[in-house]
Amino acid sequence: MRQATFSNPNDASDYLANYIIQKINSFEPTSSKPFVLGLPTGSSPEGIYGKLIEANKLGLVSFKNVVTFNMDEYLGLKPSDPQSYHYFMYDKFFNHVDIPRKNINILNGLTNDIEKECAEYENKIKKYGKINLFLGGLGPEGHLAFNEAGSTRDSKTRKVDLVESTIKANSRFFENDENKVPKHALSVGISTILDNSQEIAIIVLGGNKHFALDKTINGQANDPNYPSSYLQDHDNVLIVCDNAAAGIKSKL
Ligand code: GLP
Repeated sequence: MRQATFSNPNDASDYLANYIIQKINSFEPTSSKPFVLGLPTGSSPEGIYGKLIEANKLGLVSFKNVVTFNMDEYLGLKPSDPQSYHYFMYDKFFNHVDIPRKNINILNGLTNDIEKECAEYENKIKKYGKINLFLGGLGPEGHLAFNEAGSTRDSKTRKVDLVESTIKANSRFFENDENKVPKHALSVGISTILDNSQEIAIIVLGGNKHFALDKTINGQANDPNYPSSYLQDHDNVLIVCDNAAAGIKSKL
């Protein structure tokens, strides 16, 4: 696992945005050989999305031949609901870059056939062969996508029950009302991420992520209590964090 630590969130986001741009450009994607990019939601990747938008407007990178797969979606929220991950992704990223809509893949939280939806998502990823780069974040308790404690190494895309700590952490997007947070979601599994991705890059920002980052890097590998520890089972993981997440006190 490689780790790059920056004194502030802006520099960390800048570094990872440039890293992604360089990966896409050096791949020289075409419509028949697209660059496949896994994407997360949450506040941590927002800075990266902003920088990718800027770079796209400046002509430094194009998403015309990039295919994306999002990690997860709440069950029961319409894409037009501002709290849905569909809405987040279009609002924060897709609406502002040159990616064709047909290249965007996000799990359908309104599906009435969950098994079919999840199986089709897995198959679609497999159809592309590999995810070239999966970008992710960490939940404060060490969840990856919506893989909560107890998720197994071989888990695939499926319906998940959100645990109390996640509902609490995410209630900040739902007027701080835990009752408004959906209790279930669809999420790619640990195997979906680890076994399909050539490379995984994780952005970790803020002191409230120090515990999760420590478990991810220094904790026991493959500990189901901390699903992000499964990242130790992949040989090409880049962690990009700020000092606060790394537990480094800033010198004043
Ligand atoms: C949600 C998402 C995760 C994300 C996590 C952390 O639970 N499902 O994919 O990593 O939030 O989000 P934030 O970056 O806002 O702390």
